[in-house]
Amino acid sequence: MDTNVQKRRENKKSLRVKVISLGNAEVGKSCIIKRYCEKRFVPKYLATIGIDYGVTKVQVRDREIKVNIFDMAGHPFFYEVRNEFYKDSQGVILVYDVGLRESFDALDSWLTEMKQEMGSQANMENIIFVVCANKVDLTKRRVVDESEGKLWAESRGFHYFETSAQSGEGINEMFQAFFSSITDMCENGGKRPTSEVNVGFTKEQADTIRRIRNSKDSWDMLGVKPGATREEVNKAYRKLAVLLHPDKCVAPGSEDAFKAVVNARTSLLKNIK
Ligand code: GTP
Ligand code: MG
Repeated sequence: MDTNVQKRRENKKSLRVKVISLGNAEVGKSCIIKRYCEKRFVPKYLATIGIDYGVTKVQVRDREIKVNIFDMAGHPFFYEVRNEFYKDSQGVILVYDVGLRESFDALDSWLTEMKQEMGSQANMENIIFVVCANKVDLTKRRVVDESEGKLWAESRGFHYFETSAQSGEGINEMFQAFFSSITDMCENGGKRPTSEVNVGFTKEQADTIRRIRNSKDSWDMLGVKPGATREEVNKAYRKLAVLLHPDKCVAPGSEDAFKAVVNARTSLLKNIK
């Protein structure tokens, strides 16, 4: 075969992508990458200094993907070093530790830092995000449950995986889905395909479930003032029931939220004449 034709074909099949890892210090970013690339786990904590860079090759369908991985340091001290590396990423691995709520709460500020550093042409829509709820092997210390993490991720159109760099759980599945989505996006002209963003539930449903989880009492849960009348309680209940009914709502955590609303209404009505 003509060598130029052959080269062109090979070029079409091979792809180069850049991915970065983000999340608080010590959540397991480097260990997740090491588990995937080197098939091993390092129990001792060796903080990443600024940034670690590595290259790996993966096969997605008929394409060979050359992946440049920039593993960021989570410590605020290294902000000045990592801020330059956000640009031109096709994929982001967002990691939190299921045993540390503050590392989950920090995900929003990682997205904010990223947006800020990418500048005005930042288009977060055309980046594939995968959220790793890491250290699931440490079941006893878990404080952020699956539905809460999944809701946060899926309401933003991000993938969600439960992972353990220690046992290897979820790691290969996560990377496979991640690289496959990045390839789909590249083949779609660099745009995230719409199926990636379509999550099957609304922002209102996601926000309501989050609000219910964080409510301080039954009044607060139903969104009525303490001392509200039976009619007001029932009206608020009906609105939430329509929004969250398990037959209609597929958002993670909707079933628990629906049950909590039913219970809140029952307990309030008991005490209202
Ligand atoms: P920085 O580089 O400082 O941002 O931290 P990092 O997010 O890269 O964390 P790293 O991968 O270095 O892991 C931190 C600590 O958590 C190490 O002691 C790891 O051995 C441990 N660790 C990481 N993943 C897991 C896991 O899935 N399970 C358990 N039990 N420990 C883990
Ligand atoms: Mg690290």
